[in-house]
Amino acid sequence: MHKETVRWGVLATGGIASSFTTDLLAMRESDGAEVVAVASRTTAGAKAFAERFGIPRAYGGWAELAADEDVDVVYVAGPHSAHRAAAALCLEAGRNVLCEKAFTLNSRQARKLVAVARRHDSRHSLRYEAAEVMRCLRAGEKESPLVPLEGSLAVTRTLDAVRDRIGVRCPADEEE
Ligand SMILES: NC(=O)c1ccc[n+]([C@@H]2O[C@H](COP(=O)([O-])OP(=O)(O)OC[C@H]3O[C@@H](n4cnc5c(N)ncnc54)[C@H](OP(=O)(O)O)[C@@H]3O)[C@@H](O)[C@H]2O)c1
Repeated sequence: MHKETVRWGVLATGGIASSFTTDLLAMRESDGAEVVAVASRTTAGAKAFAERFGIPRAYGGWAELAADEDVDVVYVAGPHSAHRAAAALCLEAGRNVLCEKAFTLNSRQARKLVAVARRHDSRHSLRYEAAEVMRCLRAGEKESPLVPLEGSLAVTRTLDAVRDRIGVRCPADEEE
């Protein structure tokens, strides 16, 4: 039984954002999930998504969603090349974040993002994932024991090593 409502914001309006939002709406009664805002790169995109799912607030930019104090947790659902920027923006504004996979482009980006999450005392983490995030929020846990931040870092280090072995690099690998 849920104790209180958890207010979600959705960042990006593609395929997985639609599936996840559908699941959150189905969890309204059983788990106390509420979808209160959506952000897209365009106002028209945000409004169309908001109308489709009955979401009260639609933002034509990520910063407005990040600044929305009436959002408990932002679901970052853009392409993985955008995860670091989107998640850092939300964390720095004080929002909690559930970030889609692949977490980041490489382990350096992952390390930086985890550092931001830890600095801002936020919690990292489809229906099971949302339920675990809400459990963590209600229990005051800073990160999920099921998806610990160290686990995300280990996955990105492994992927870096695999890419090194097969000689695949991306521009983000050259960033400091
Ligand atoms: N957990 C899973 O099982 C699962 C399944 C599928 C996908 N995923 C992950 O979820 C993420 C999104 O996948 P998807 O299938 O939903 O992709 P998608 O349908 O292409 O949607 C991605 C959305 O991100 C925004 N976007 C597009 N290009 C962008 C850019 N250059 N910079 C910033 N934002 C951009 C767009 O939303 P706006 O127009 O609103 O900005 C777009 O609708 C990926 O990281 C993918 O790996 C996970």
